[in-house]
Amino acid sequence: MVDLRKLKDDDKPQVRTLELFCIREYLEGSLQKSWDDLPAELMEQLGASTKDSYEYYREAGMSYVALEKGQVVGFLFAQIIQHVNNIEKVLWIENIGVHPDHRRKGVGLKLLRRASLDAKKKGAKAVQSVVMPDAKDAVMLHKKVGFFIDGRKFAFLDLENFQ
Ligand SMILES: CC(C)(COP(=O)(O)OP(=O)(O)OC[C@H]1O[C@@H](n2cnc3c(N)ncnc32)[C@H](O)[C@@H]1OP(=O)(O)O)[C@@H](O)C(=O)NCCC(=O)NCCS
Repeated sequence: MVDLRKLKDDDKPQVRTLELFCIREYLEGSLQKSWDDLPAELMEQLGASTKDSYEYYREAGMSYVALEKGQVVGFLFAQIIQHVNNIEKVLWIENIGVHPDHRRKGVGLKLLRRASLDAKKKGAKAVQSVVMPDAKDAVMLHKKVGFFIDGRKFAFLDLENFQ
């Protein structure tokens, strides 16, 4: 039996381990990159469960964990953001992951539906989620929930060395 609840401070070690596992899986599977080649400094910055980011998402109050027998088996990081694409309030899904031993049991669906319904109660009008086109399981999950996936691409600019 899997229960969902809001993310707590104490969940951090388990959520960090699971999120890094999911990122590793994606990098090695889809991008065919070796995890061991990544500099430790970069690894520390990956995901939404880094020190500052975790705290931010926990406080924002729209992030969840899925638990089975007290163990974290899934997570979802999200926040409500204002005025995106002319929509006043949007739930932004930053990342979602489920432990491989617990996949295809409806955990991802539960997490995504719960966050979306809670956001609706708070006045959000839509949900946006970044999904890598080659992450088939994530694409299929979002479709099952009812997301519309078009060919939209995000343009990203790193401002660190930008002048
Ligand atoms: C994507 C992910 C979160 C899905 O979690 P999950 O708990 O396994 O998903 P669910 O069991 O709730 O699946 C719900 C539906 O999504 C679809 N789906 C999920 N995984 C699928 C897969 N591998 N192949 C085809 N459809 C899939 C199915 O329609 C499924 O319903 P069904 O089982 O009744 O057919 C999980 O696979 C995961 O953690 N992947 C690695 C991390 C990742 O890609 N995160 C997404 C970042 S955007």
